Amino acid sequence: MVSAQSPTATPPDRNNDTDPTTLLVHEIARLYTIDPSRGGLGEMENASVLMSSDGTVAWVGPANEAPEADAVLDAKGLIGLPGLVDPHTHAVWAGSRAGEFAQRLAGAKYEEILEQGGGILSTVAATRSASKEALQLNLRLRLDRMRARGVTCVEVKSGYGLDPSTEHTMLTVASPFEPHQQPTRVVRTFLGAHTIPKEFRSNRDAYVRQIIEEQLPLCAPVADFVDVYCDRGAFDLDESMAILRAGKELGLKVRAHAEQVTYTGIAEAAAHLGALALDHLERIDDAGVAAMQAAGTTAVLLPGAQLYLKDTPPPVAAFREAGVPMAVGTDLNPGSSPLHDLWTAATLSCLIQGLTIEEAVLGITRHAARAIGMPGAGLITTGSHADLALFAPPPGEPKTVESLIQHMGSPDAVHVIVQGSRLF
Ligand code: NIG
Ligand code: FE
Repeated sequence: MVSAQSPTATPPDRNNDTDPTTLLVHEIARLYTIDPSRGGLGEMENASVLMSSDGTVAWVGPANEAPEADAVLDAKGLIGLPGLVDPHTHAVWAGSRAGEFAQRLAGAKYEEILEQGGGILSTVAATRSASKEALQLNLRLRLDRMRARGVTCVEVKSGYGLDPSTEHTMLTVASPFEPHQQPTRVVRTFLGAHTIPKEFRSNRDAYVRQIIEEQLPLCAPVADFVDVYCDRGAFDLDESMAILRAGKELGLKVRAHAEQVTYTGIAEAAAHLGALALDHLERIDDAGVAAMQAAGTTAVLLPGAQLYLKDTPPPVAAFREAGVPMAVGTDLNPGSSPLHDLWTAATLSCLIQGLTIEEAVLGITRHAARAIGMPGAGLITTGSHADLALFAPPPGEPKTVESLIQHMGSPDAVHVIVQGSRLF
């Protein structure tokens, strides 16, 4: 037990008989969080964090001022970060596209494979024929893998159903689990507009109508966001905007796969519609950046897709100059970005997109939380989510986030705390 001395400490509520447990994560060698005075990354040496039974942070401060708690977790020698946030994944799918990877290594183009009925469409076929239980198990295993690396909050899209019932099933599968089954916080995105399914290839207007008239009304109650893939081989600007508007009218937040393979103008138009996030953005123009800045839209950078598709980087300097916040995601999916490790995405964002280390860390914490509309995530402060990850530095390296980002791949997560409960 640690004695209560801090004047700012909130004492644990001993009379709460529903769940009186408070957890003190004590003596973290270096804790990274957000510096509220400038919105950048803040750090504190030898810090402690009190997690309260309601799943929020009750207190954070110097270890020698830590309040009493029911349980204490020794974090000496470890680097603390808010639970990481992956702001863009397609983590519900069945089947494999390893063969397509080989085809692309031999020179085939992503769009050509899709055009021939492979790519996203082959995942659609496998996902439609999978049981709900199989999809759920796949997602749980993927979230477990991510959580073992410190990721406690994940955005998950539908988009491999492309019919009302499979899209609905995908979102239901991603809906909150019982905490003992799967404690990761999930934000759900409807992506019925991922591509035109085979049966509608000769009548795409009918598919857009089905999305607006059937899929969206059915799926909106189990989704938080509406998304579209606006690109050659997928949806054009008018179709995409009609779908985003329809989703917004049903109360969904707006985001889009924007300016990835070809420039379409969707970034500017969706920002005007109030998009919270826009993703990929390799081919965004100045007008798009300005519209994102004006709307307060977060740019979600996906270096995994850039790397796998051998693409060019998005205009990071323009985002930085305009003050557009940048988040970094894995884009975990079986085709363009089979990457589940958010740490690798962060390192790649520095190496192939030009982010600074601080920008990359904000990108997988605070700015990622902003992109998915979860204000309590991605920082550690009084009242924030009690989600915290503790990492050991690579052997011989200092206890700093620079050493974690410099080394490719996830560092060893020694403890991951989600909703105030220790998991690893
Ligand atoms: O974010 N670009 C479109 N959608 C996904 C790819 C999904 C897939 O290939 O299965 C993306 O890269
Ligand atoms: Fe994506």
